[in-house]
Amino acid sequence: MRSVIRITDLDLAEIDELIAVANDIIESPAKYAHACDGKKLATLFFEPSTRTRLSFEAAMYELGGHVLSVPDGGASSAAKGESVADTAKTVSCYADIIAMRHPKEGAPYVASVNATVPVINAGDGGHNHPTQTLTDLLTIQREKGRLDKLTVGVCGDLKFGRTVHSLIEAMSRYEGVSFQLISPEELKLPSYVKKDILQAKGVPYEQTTDLEAALPKLDILYMTRVQRERFFNEEDYLRLKDSYILTPERLQKAREDMIILHPLPRVNEISVAVDADPRACYFKQVLNGKYIRMALILKLLKEAGTI
Ligand code: NCD
Repeated sequence: MRSVIRITDLDLAEIDELIAVANDIIESPAKYAHACDGKKLATLFFEPSTRTRLSFEAAMYELGGHVLSVPDGGASSAAKGESVADTAKTVSCYADIIAMRHPKEGAPYVASVNATVPVINAGDGGHNHPTQTLTDLLTIQREKGRLDKLTVGVCGDLKFGRTVHSLIEAMSRYEGVSFQLISPEELKLPSYVKKDILQAKGVPYEQTTDLEAALPKLDILYMTRVQRERFFNEEDYLRLKDSYILTPERLQKAREDMIILHPLPRVNEISVAVDADPRACYFKQVLNGKYIRMALILKLLKEAGTI
């Protein structure tokens, strides 16, 4: 059974195809309105979410399907001690496809090897978030017209930010991509991501704590929130939370055609005054997330022979 647990579960041709389908859905939504008639998506969320869960659910409704939801894993049998494996086997009896978010790295993978329907990782701890990355890739393709030859600045919590780990893994597969890794010392990109992805593929990167110095080099600035829930103590969080705040003044140093992305939720790291800047693409990103998830649900249900 085909599941998507990390972004490299999809090859580049498949990503191109998902982007093409998402663009077609944007152009002609009516064509897809009954594509999943009567099929059911289960969303199992063991961590807070607004965009990811609701975009999966909106995606399934717009394909004509239905949704079963555990929006708060604390209220499910997991709270009684049920294993992820048993939950996955159980939910496979009710749903045709599962989207799972879990605080434990690897939990959606465990679900995928026990489920009899496709499982999509909707974020596992500080590890991966492949559908956010698909959202980011669709947005980059639509806004910049390409996925190669780009200088990407990722800024903020590079240690715990799973969206950053998946984005780096995805973008490292395209020619001519380089990274500016902008973070406080304490929140640097984990060495396994540097070694296994950037160094293994020979992708150029620079590490810096200085956002303003990096800004003029960037085609894309990907801002992230400091991941409070993954800190061991509140004092460290309070010290680091406002390390970077993007303001209209700082943006004067950036290129006119740079785009600003953020997986959201934003806390303080982008001032609200930036929203009016034509380079701010984070709310477009939210909408794109629904379309690319429609494309992914369609693909996995077709491959499973469900539709
Ligand atoms: C991200 C996540 O959950 O990792 N949010 C999202 O899915 N759009 C980013 C975050 O929570 O900071």
